[in-house]
Amino acid sequence: MNTNHHQTPGQSRFRRVRRVLPLALTGLAATLLTGCQQVRQSLTIGDLSSGYNREIFWMSVWAIALSIIIFIGVSYALFYTVNKFREDKHDAPPAQFHGNNRLEVILVVVPVIIVVFLSVLTVRSMARLNPNINADTQNINVLARQFWWNFSYPEAAAAAGGVVSNGNEMIMPTRQKVALTITSGDVIHGFWAPNIGGQRAALPAVKKTWQVDIDRAGAYQGNCSQLCGASHANMRYKVVALDQDRYNTFVTAASAYRAPEPAPGSAEARGYTLFMQGKTETGALACAACHRVQGTPAAGAAGPDLSFFGTRRTLGAGMWEAMTAEHWEAADAKVRLHEWIKHSPLVKPGSLMPTYDGSEYRVNGKVQKGGVLTDAEIDDVAAYLRTLQLPEEADYWKGTQIQGAPQGGTQ
Ligand code: CUA
Repeated sequence: MNTNHHQTPGQSRFRRVRRVLPLALTGLAATLLTGCQQVRQSLTIGDLSSGYNREIFWMSVWAIALSIIIFIGVSYALFYTVNKFREDKHDAPPAQFHGNNRLEVILVVVPVIIVVFLSVLTVRSMARLNPNINADTQNINVLARQFWWNFSYPEAAAAAGGVVSNGNEMIMPTRQKVALTITSGDVIHGFWAPNIGGQRAALPAVKKTWQVDIDRAGAYQGNCSQLCGASHANMRYKVVALDQDRYNTFVTAASAYRAPEPAPGSAEARGYTLFMQGKTETGALACAACHRVQGTPAAGAAGPDLSFFGTRRTLGAGMWEAMTAEHWEAADAKVRLHEWIKHSPLVKPGSLMPTYDGSEYRVNGKVQKGGVLTDAEIDDVAAYLRTLQLPEEADYWKGTQIQGAPQGGTQ
């Protein structure tokens, strides 16, 4: 056991904890005071509507069945032997022998058969879970970043002549193979939405393709499964599975989408200007520098794509959800969005988004000071964001069942 303590790393870790803890407590207090909107959704690999989970399930059934047979066989042999060869004081000492070829061969052959059976079972499942990807498979590119996800749709993008992507909400078709090409923009993350399958590492500079499918339409919970920094636990996403025609409607609408232009002089129009240009006088940075909105000059790639923000129902990579009928118009959803724009690093530790209340935040360990927007200006930006909606027929939340939620809610 090494008892040498290096003082400095421990101390700096403590200092980091001291710095992060008040932020975490503030976030927790805010959550408790205003009523958390997070809908609890169970995560399960026992969801047999996914081909991936079915394969794992049947592999387990075979492996467990074999284990039970072995258990019964060994138990029987044990009890039989103990009973039959019980010591009796009238017995003469048993005959001694050295070596028994038949027994030795059996004790080698039987385990070999067991191991071969289990290997074949495993290798067969591995091959089925990692098939060659067909050309007609739907493709979705998954990019993990600290601490959010971006999902892009190559088919839609090809039709749109550019990029079609969505932050933190992945739309996929049901009853069809979907090829996810997963990568990371910084550290190692884990793509993990157990209802549609197991987990896959998102590795920086490596693209891995993985095929999944699900039969049942609905919204499923996804989490980052690899400790990746201060907001690892705040790196959630939704997988929204739509039946094929609805998925096609989404892809078509997403390719044709151009952000609506706000009416001149409206709050949304003021928000648009702040979004695109920031406010130089107070040092408030333009949102467009980091975020993209399809059909506008905003083309930033450092933050999540906000093209369909008004259609989305999650904020801050699933920290909050706007699942009521009023959606972003609900009073507390408005409060959340306001708080998020105002000082996202305060509500989400490690968020790289600047603050807009003049408070300090950190980017790569360097302290930065945010510019300032007034509360009214923040509300203007929020009003603009709420207008960024897909046409109603392409609203993938509409009528979508939230799977695994205790209330079994629909949108
Ligand atoms: Cu990303 Cu944990």
